[in-house]
Amino acid sequence: MKIIEKKVLADYQDTKITKLVILSPDIARKALPGQFVVVMAKEESERIPLTVVESQDEKITLILQELGFSTKLLGSFNVKDSLYALAGPLGHPTEIKNYGHIILVGGGVGIAEIFPVAKALKKAGNNVISIIGARTKDLLILENELKENSDKLYICTDDGSYGTKAFTTDLLKQLLNDTRHPMPYTLVYAVGPIPMMKKVTEVTKEFSVKTMVSLNALMVDGTGMCGCCRATVGGEVKFSCIDGPEFDAHLVDWEELEKRNRIYIDKEKHICNLNKL
Ligand code: FES
Repeated sequence: MKIIEKKVLADYQDTKITKLVILSPDIARKALPGQFVVVMAKEESERIPLTVVESQDEKITLILQELGFSTKLLGSFNVKDSLYALAGPLGHPTEIKNYGHIILVGGGVGIAEIFPVAKALKKAGNNVISIIGARTKDLLILENELKENSDKLYICTDDGSYGTKAFTTDLLKQLLNDTRHPMPYTLVYAVGPIPMMKKVTEVTKEFSVKTMVSLNALMVDGTGMCGCCRATVGGEVKFSCIDGPEFDAHLVDWEELEKRNRIYIDKEKHICNLNKL
């Protein structure tokens, strides 16, 4: 579980997005698009769920946004450092098949999560349109990788510093409204901040397009034992780690998920202030 490559993909004001390539032959052999691993940087560290962005030969690629104490600690690791623990691949893989015409929407670090799905769905013969967005140009990641694996790539930034000045959901609505498009879109797949995925859900409901989201719920063990990652989907309690992480967006109780994901914000800030990396 040694880090063999590290690259800072974005570093802007308070936000840093870092790519780590880790030697892990067992996970690399089995990981499929949509699956994740749980990482512990040190023995006493919190467990962090991270999507497997790529798995090749004996290595896996993870991309993390350094937000709280644990992600900052992991981001401080360097090439040749070893992680204390790595478990995976976890979660159900994305259902890869030929859906026809699909739209992928990635916001912020969620772009890293749509990349393996775009790659697999393109390979399966789909016509892939990707929409990626970030707050500003300096925070936009994986543009070339998505371009290579999409038939068309749309870029937007909140401040208009690159691509269109818009939110991903504005572009999504334009595409779904475009009557010149010859074929109906059969799937929208979205990953990003909860408000973005919630908005995507509202937009696609209007157009009755099947929509899948990968939920970034809070996780502890990642194996269905703690109940921390629960979400209500279609009126039933589901665990994101073992039932997901992908769910039908139109069935997710977004208000509840938003509330749950805010539970530890104050504690996290407090811990960040107390600890030195
Ligand atoms: S992380 Fe514990 S049940 Fe999913």
